[in-house]
Amino acid sequence: MFVHYILTVSYIIFSIIAIWCTGLQKVQSEQNILHEKNVVAALHALDVSIINHDVKTHLSPIKMCTEMLESHIPGPLNEKQEKMVVTMRRCVEKLETLLNDISDMYKLESHSMHLEKTDLDVQDLMDGCTNLLRPFISEKQVELQIESGEHGKIYADGRRIGQVLVNLVKNAIDFVPESGGKITITVQKGQDCTMLFCVEDNGEGVKPEDLGKIFNKFYKGESKQARKYGGSGLGLGICKGIIQEHGGKIWLESRNPNGTLFKFTIPLISSQSI
Ligand SMILES: Nc1ncnc2c1ncn2[C@@H]1O[C@H](COP(=O)(O)OP(=O)(O)OP(=O)(O)O)[C@@H](O)[C@H]1O
Ligand SMILES: [Mg+2]
Repeated sequence: MFVHYILTVSYIIFSIIAIWCTGLQKVQSEQNILHEKNVVAALHALDVSIINHDVKTHLSPIKMCTEMLESHIPGPLNEKQEKMVVTMRRCVEKLETLLNDISDMYKLESHSMHLEKTDLDVQDLMDGCTNLLRPFISEKQVELQIESGEHGKIYADGRRIGQVLVNLVKNAIDFVPESGGKITITVQKGQDCTMLFCVEDNGEGVKPEDLGKIFNKFYKGESKQARKYGGSGLGLGICKGIIQEHGGKIWLESRNPNGTLFKFTIPLISSQSI
């Protein structure tokens, strides 16, 4: 009887240990796969940054030459030549933006983007962003309104939050009507100890069936307007990555066909959250 009891208990203990070991092995192999994936992603990001650097090295003299031509340093240009040089300069600028976007995307995917976070007063941040955003709205007749009376503090990389706002505003500029375009940025305290940033426009909006795809890498809309202005489709993916690296969330509400409202949150600094 006792031997039978001992055997049963041993069997149960052995089974528990076996199940635990199998579970542990599974967790370890999952962790290894995850680690390997991160290493591969990091190496990929390194490759991308080397290629990026090489391409930029060749792009810089082309940019310098087009700028010199545009300033008539080698001599005067006729009207046709002038237009060609402007096209060349714009293409070089687009290529530079694309290279920076690809580099940012790979840094975010490999979690190697270095954020310089500091305690930021939201009002100061928005004052800085206003200057950053003004040049973009001069391209089209757009009314840009910034409403922020908040003095909460967030722990964030101001340059990267500015990059997110510029991305959202640049998209909004593409979609607002030629006349009567309006973009409003508001900042207020959100739920769960966060600061809530909203960017609203009165453009054509996003179709309900596209809402789920809009933050995907390389996603571009198919409307006439989207095809006219479309870039590489990396902007919103980068915005999402930056906000998530700050511990925040980003989403949108479409009022198709009457505009789009993007919202993102950034946690308040911990002393304010208590
Ligand atoms: N405010 C908006 N109103 C309507 N559609 C929008 C708006 N913002 C983004 N979209 C749609 O989402 C798509 C993806 O935007 P995203 O910023 O990622 O890429 P992009 O602007 O096309 O290119 P990139 O920003 O990389 O130069 C756009 O092509 C557009 O169709
Ligand atoms: Mg964009």
